[in-house]
Amino acid sequence: MSEQKIFFSKDNLIRYVKTFSPAQIFIVHGRTFSRLSVAEALSDFRAVHFTDFKPNPLFESVEAGVKAFRENACDLIIAVGGGSALDVAKCVKLYADRDIPLIAIPTTAGTGSEATRFAVVYKDGEKQSITDACMIPNAILFDAEPLKILPAYQRKATLLDAFSHAAESYWSIKATEASRAFAVEALRIIVSLQADYFSGRTGDAENLSLMYAAYLAGKAINISETTAGHAMSYKLTSLFGISHGHAAALCNAGLWRFMQGSAAVKELSAIIGEKTFRRLLTDGELIYPLKDATAADFDSTLELLTHSVNPVRLKNFPVPLPEDVIREIYRGILRGEAIE
Ligand SMILES: [Fe+2]
Repeated sequence: MSEQKIFFSKDNLIRYVKTFSPAQIFIVHGRTFSRLSVAEALSDFRAVHFTDFKPNPLFESVEAGVKAFRENACDLIIAVGGGSALDVAKCVKLYADRDIPLIAIPTTAGTGSEATRFAVVYKDGEKQSITDACMIPNAILFDAEPLKILPAYQRKATLLDAFSHAAESYWSIKATEASRAFAVEALRIIVSLQADYFSGRTGDAENLSLMYAAYLAGKAINISETTAGHAMSYKLTSLFGISHGHAAALCNAGLWRFMQGSAAVKELSAIIGEKTFRRLLTDGELIYPLKDATAADFDSTLELLTHSVNPVRLKNFPVPLPEDVIREIYRGILRGEAIE
């Protein structure tokens, strides 16, 4: 596909949308859409609004989206939201019409989904990873406004997702020179602004930098893919309802210790310094017990988690990761002792 177009101004984005003379736009968005000025900017176009999806979207939502897209003869898709809105929009494009333009307007500094060919949906309770180059958005609008209204937990969890993408990409055995350059740049930005961002002291310029960092981390994983941290995170999210980025960071905090001594960790340490996964989780008050250690089903939950990790998906991880190590990492997470 041609190079992604990147806009930092709504006016320029609107001019770009007009070049397609869309008959009907399919806008996939979450609940905060009406509070954003981009909603007003798009109100001059004929549009169908699709909001029938939840976090960790179901495949059924994609099917409903494809149906609505076709029934309304839409000819352009705009996704406004976090990872879920973007993933649903990407899948609607994949299944409805691979050739129509897709525009992403991220509302978090996190998933980097606007940069990737990946989408995650859940079918029959199981995570499905969908990969297709046609799902890479044609254009992106970076606008810091949505970060002002992002709740504190989502603000922290989504930044930890971006941090996880950059770090996992860096140590992935599929990393390339290009993916590492994206990852390093993302990590430098995140490390420099994280404390102020968590405490709500960043302004529009810094927030925009963090959105861009999340995008760079997305570009990094678009090349290298994610590794064990993500593979281990999904069951934590589905079992305990914690945010995807929160779960990934908890897993990466545990994994970090088992990678000590590897070249990648030494190099990463020089970049992130004190800002390790554990430190970011502690700063965000995101380490707490997920399960009472005396609960009758503690051990069965631990086994469920341990066996939830698809060994195929660990293949990008740079060091061997035996099952007993995975179990101990989960044990620490369940007890609120995220080790590092
Ligand atoms: Fe992620």
